[in-house]
Amino acid sequence: MSIFKKEKGTRNYLTNKEIKAIAKSNAQEMKRLEAYKNRKCEESEFLTEMKNPENILEIEDLHTSFFTEQGVVKAVNGVSYDVPKNAVVGVVGESGCGKSVTSMSVMRLIQGPTGQIVDGSIRFKSHEYKRNEKGEPILKAGSTTEYEMVDKVYDIAKMPIHEIHRIRGKQIAMIFQEPMTSLNPVFTIGEQLDEVTFFHIPGATKEMAKAKSEEMLRLVGIIPENVYGAFPHELSGGMRQRVMIAMALAAEPRLIIADEPTTALDVTIQAQILDLLQDIKNKIDGSILLITHDLGVIAEMADYVVVMYAGKVIEKGTVYEIFQDPKHPYTIGLQKSKPTMNLDDGTELYNIPGNVPNPINMPGYCYFKERCAMCTRKCSGDYPGMVQVSPTHFVACHLYDEEKNNG
Ligand SMILES: Nc1ncnc2c1ncn2[C@@H]1O[C@H](COP(=O)(O)OP(=O)(O)OP(=O)(O)O)[C@@H](O)[C@H]1O
Ligand code: SF4
Ligand SMILES: [Mg+2]
Repeated sequence: MSIFKKEKGTRNYLTNKEIKAIAKSNAQEMKRLEAYKNRKCEESEFLTEMKNPENILEIEDLHTSFFTEQGVVKAVNGVSYDVPKNAVVGVVGESGCGKSVTSMSVMRLIQGPTGQIVDGSIRFKSHEYKRNEKGEPILKAGSTTEYEMVDKVYDIAKMPIHEIHRIRGKQIAMIFQEPMTSLNPVFTIGEQLDEVTFFHIPGATKEMAKAKSEEMLRLVGIIPENVYGAFPHELSGGMRQRVMIAMALAAEPRLIIADEPTTALDVTIQAQILDLLQDIKNKIDGSILLITHDLGVIAEMADYVVVMYAGKVIEKGTVYEIFQDPKHPYTIGLQKSKPTMNLDDGTELYNIPGNVPNPINMPGYCYFKERCAMCTRKCSGDYPGMVQVSPTHFVACHLYDEEKNNG
């Protein structure tokens, strides 16, 4: 709820008094959250345990908001989902539903002071260098190149921002939609790839870094001799995205977050990049969090699917459950809106009618109600809780409340 009152149906603007009240409340909250983000604390404050040791990432009741002049935009409003080890988890949902804000929260890339993680946990199992009191990695007894490793579980949401280097880029890597904006135009591909090794591997020499960069380029299907010395602008979009993937892999991450990794590419290159991601997942023994609004991509790649709507998870399950047995009316609608190759019979692409409610002033009831053809009297009541319909399938919709009571 926003902090201002709007007399129902009478006006669509904020008074000066309300604007001032929002600014004051925002300033207080942003100051408190910035101080928390920049605090100095013991490691024990942000160490935790996984609820399920088979997971690599557990997001629980995450709230990420933007403190705007119009009020608080609850972009991520109580999101919970897990990424199991060695799995691909696909996140779908229409534009603006909070897919990217969730993943940016995991990477702690939300831009403050306006954007803030307000509440919740992001538990991540890290495998990292064991360090001495000075923070230096400890060599294995009798070795000059191998270091001792240790497993730790961090609550990323509670980590002070200056500690995030422990995982960002190294343990969790991100592949963005537009590779050109992520590559530095004034350095060669080789220089940028080598830099990842220098940054993440203690004592790495120039030769080591180059060997690693070439290995990564080969892994993504690039002949290193052709590309190592090239500048980003000399490569095609597909090649740049491969380089970005190579760069993400150079640090040997345990989790790759790919946010619309193929949207900027043409269809044939898209298929190649997806094959590459699948191949890499098997090779690196890691997990992929794949964010896209393309259901075809999800069907092909994902083991599990999370469906988001207006800042919340409304359904999650295995890819089979979500595609073969969707439960939530929104997910059922999404399946219908999936483009097919044979639309030449005059059928229009199905569009779910209606709009998402105003993110500053969300209603107390189901956010999908205004667009839902299946709503009942119950739907005007509280926001529906998550109901478990199979060991792996969950849905937030009143139509399944019975199953909760029975189960
Ligand atoms: N800097 C910001 N200030 C205010 N609101 C923001 C900001 N960044 C994101 N939002 C809001 O957060 C919500 C979620 O945005 P997000 O980028 O996560 O959507 P998305 O699901 O990734 O959509 P898309 O499919 O278009 O990438 C949106 O309503 C957006 O308007
Ligand atoms: S809770 Fe009601 S309004 Fe919401 S999706 Fe389910 S049936 Fe539709
Ligand atoms: Mg996005």
